[in-house]
Amino acid sequence: MKITGVGTDLVKVARIDGLLQRYGERFMRKIFTDREIRDCSNRPEPAVHFSGRFAAKEAVAKAAYQGGWLEVIPWRNIEITTDEYGRPSVTIAPEVFSVCHISIAHDGEYAQAFAVGERDHD
Ligand SMILES: CC(C)(COP(=O)(O)OP(=O)(O)OC[C@H]1O[C@@H](n2cnc3c(N)ncnc32)[C@H](O)[C@@H]1OP(=O)(O)O)[C@@H](O)C(=O)NCCC(=O)NCCS
Repeated sequence: MKITGVGTDLVKVARIDGLLQRYGERFMRKIFTDREIRDCSNRPEPAVHFSGRFAAKEAVAKAAYQGGWLEVIPWRNIEITTDEYGRPSVTIAPEVFSVCHISIAHDGEYAQAFAVGERDHD
């Protein structure tokens, strides 16, 4: 397995909060999977968690482009889920990455994410 791309993104929580308030379901369903919507909506501050996942998708896309995958990846084709410990992971088509690691953080106004993608094929 070889690291083929890294990506990072920083998101203002207020921007995502504004989009959620203005476009509601329409924005949510365009960007997030049903599972992501369920996971974030159940949290005390949904906008913070939507922001982290938004940053994560951008970070994964950046990592993918560095890996030479030049087709635009639809938002919902990158899914961020968390395990029982809260640790996030990425589901993405195996042609893009065999494995993609993700880390998310948020504090106050901002959420950020960092992604590392690995491939065992060209
Ligand atoms: C996990 C931990 C490092 C998160 O740090 P934090 O400063 O509170 O939170 P940050 O803003 O930096 O990051 C939050 C993101 O970290 C990620 N995260 C949460 N738990 C994680 C873990 N165990 N490993 C890796 N990433 C984790 C999540 O993506 C989370 O965002 P989300 O809730 O929107 O999905 C911190 O809570 C910790 O050290 N906990 C000790 C272990 C613990 O208590 N585990 C509880 C389950 S037993």
